[in-house]
Amino acid sequence: MTQPTQPTSITPAQRDQLIAAACAIRGRAYTPYSRFKVGAALLTDDGRVYTGVNVENASYGLTVCAERNAVGAMVHDGARRIAAVAVCTDNGVTPCGACRQVLSEFVDHESDVPVWIVDGQGDVRQTTMFTLLPDHFGPRHLQ
Ligand code: THU
Repeated sequence: MTQPTQPTSITPAQRDQLIAAACAIRGRAYTPYSRFKVGAALLTDDGRVYTGVNVENASYGLTVCAERNAVGAMVHDGARRIAAVAVCTDNGVTPCGACRQVLSEFVDHESDVPVWIVDGQGDVRQTTMFTLLPDHFGPRHLQ
């Protein structure tokens, strides 16, 4: 198994911008059932930022998480490579397993990326994509 390299370096300003974007968008989450609002922001390798919120549904299983909506926005705009992720919730939780898999699709297997987890107080902790999803299945397995 090859080990991913250290996270790509992101400037402090980019990090702060990404975290601010995730926290700013969180209020737009549509969460009449769980009341659990999530804001996600992705930085791409060419410096663009895309955001997403969770969108729930009366048919509960059709809910789409914030991270996957952010990926949809990114792909819709033609971007393909994630350089960093920020996720903002009240209690500072990490992305669910499904979102880890979907995010990892757009992270270069050879270079891990930072994931900033932010809580409602603004406290931030850093992890990485492949810390959250080690030994992941990805595009390289289908080539
Ligand atoms: N949720 C996300 O948006 N992202 C995650 O990674 C975990 C869960 C949402 C889905 C649902 O709207 C609410 O949080 C509670 O599960």
